[in-house]
Amino acid sequence: MSAEPLLRLAFGNAAADYERGRPEWPDEIATVGRLSPDAEVLDLAAGTGKLTRVLARRFTHLVAVEPSAEMRALIAGVQALDGSAESIPLADSSLDGVFCAEAFHWFDWPRALDEIARVLRPGGLLVLCFNVPNGGDYLPLPEAAREIIERYRRLGVEPGGKILESGAWREPFADPASPFEPLCEESFEHVHVQDRDALVARTLSTSIFAVLPAKERRTLGEELRTVTADGTYRTPLRAEVWWTRMR
Ligand SMILES: C[S@@+](CC[C@H](N)C(=O)[O-])C[C@H]1O[C@@H](n2cnc3c(N)ncnc32)[C@H](O)[C@@H]1O
Repeated sequence: MSAEPLLRLAFGNAAADYERGRPEWPDEIATVGRLSPDAEVLDLAAGTGKLTRVLARRFTHLVAVEPSAEMRALIAGVQALDGSAESIPLADSSLDGVFCAEAFHWFDWPRALDEIARVLRPGGLLVLCFNVPNGGDYLPLPEAAREIIERYRRLGVEPGGKILESGAWREPFADPASPFEPLCEESFEHVHVQDRDALVARTLSTSIFAVLPAKERRTLGEELRTVTADGTYRTPLRAEVWWTRMR
């Protein structure tokens, strides 16, 4: 299973909703692999900078790469370059660590891994993380909202989560010829607390709705706000962290 280009490039349409609605990352992610604070580190597919902010609290030499200009425009305080996992605008063997949150499943895996191996120094660290539900729904919406969502789904357009759940993205790491060691796993529990409007924004920022024309997304948002009670919504999450080093 591979990512649909239309969907993986759609996040920029929903940059403001993404920033408002998506969960943050626990600080522990920056300590995975125990890189020194003066290590040279990349946040790849940085989006609006949610993991970038966590990494910036630990690392002095940090750069972000993100292909969407709308997402990149919201990254603050760190150099943010236009680029992709398949074409990273950095020199060979120039990094000690590459971090990548909620994005590896969107890449062309063999090309991305060759490119990540190119920019990492020998023994360099690669950290991939994903927020997964921890005993509840990813989107704690009422039943009426679910019915609305179903109406806006395009037939045959699968969300990125399906690729993630399939585990297919881990297969290239099992190849004995991979430049990376086998993946290790750690996880960190956290809770995403948000109000009704942020929960609706989170829904609108998922790839299958980010891809809708702006007017249709706005109407979907209005319909969801109408049926979702104002209040505080808590989503228990587990940040699943997969990490490896260059052989
Ligand atoms: C779900 S967002 C994750 C953003 C951010 N890392 C975070 O944790 O909030 C996925 C990001 O991957 C980016 N993306 C999609 N395909 C990409 C590719 N081939 N190379 C690099 N980034 C890509 C999208 O533009 C989007 O910003």
